[in-house]
Amino acid sequence: NKNIAIAIDGPAAAGKSTVAKIVARKLSYIYIDTGAMYRALTLKATNNNVELNDESSLAELLRETSIQLKQSDDGQRVLLDGEDVTLDIRSQNVTNNVSYVAKHPAIRKEMVARQQSLASKRGVVMDGRDIGTHVLPDAEVKIFLIASVEERAKRRYEENIQKGFPSDLEELKKEIKQRDQIDSKRDVAPLLKAEDAIEIDTTSLSIDEVAQKILTEVSKKI
Ligand code: C5P
Repeated sequence: NKNIAIAIDGPAAAGKSTVAKIVARKLSYIYIDTGAMYRALTLKATNNNVELNDESSLAELLRETSIQLKQSDDGQRVLLDGEDVTLDIRSQNVTNNVSYVAKHPAIRKEMVARQQSLASKRGVVMDGRDIGTHVLPDAEVKIFLIASVEERAKRRYEENIQKGFPSDLEELKKEIKQRDQIDSKRDVAPLLKAEDAIEIDTTSLSIDEVAQKILTEVSKKI
């Protein structure tokens, strides 16, 4: 079997990481969550009171920041300068600020370079917003996952309730729309379906059905 690269892009809360992890496990590939890298920098910037619209200060901060994605039995751990921030980067505050950090060209340039080096060995499933278009333009399989905003908010709502977090469906809908808007409208590497990506609308599909569709595409290439 050939080791390939699988790029999974799409809007917020479309289920990218859930299916990416399943696909990676089935193939014994590594999974790289690029959103976690932008989230980790956002967490560090807010903890250090760095202005999120100050591109050069953010870029300087990133240069001296180590972000590691560690595969473990309970999924992926995210280490920020060696410290486990897996849960912290999912906070409301980070979620609502990350798109302001991710829109700066200098930040994207450095993140893309780090992501490309992480994926250089292949046998990789990577998810994000610009993987098929910029990070891995030569990925053998490119998937663009979409779902209605109502469905995405509903899934996130149920996930929150299950984790015991308070949640408000209308608020979630607003936040998801807002993040999609910033990610789609930015000048550099906006959220966009690659020309050669396969679009899957997951609105009325189960997680396993989506994973199966992706694995079917993969089997044509390996
Ligand atoms: O995937 P996730 O929702 O965790 O991503 C958080 C944010 O990071 C996105 O809303 C987007 O602003 C940014 N991001 C990005 N490019 C990527 C991955 C994430 O700009 N490849």
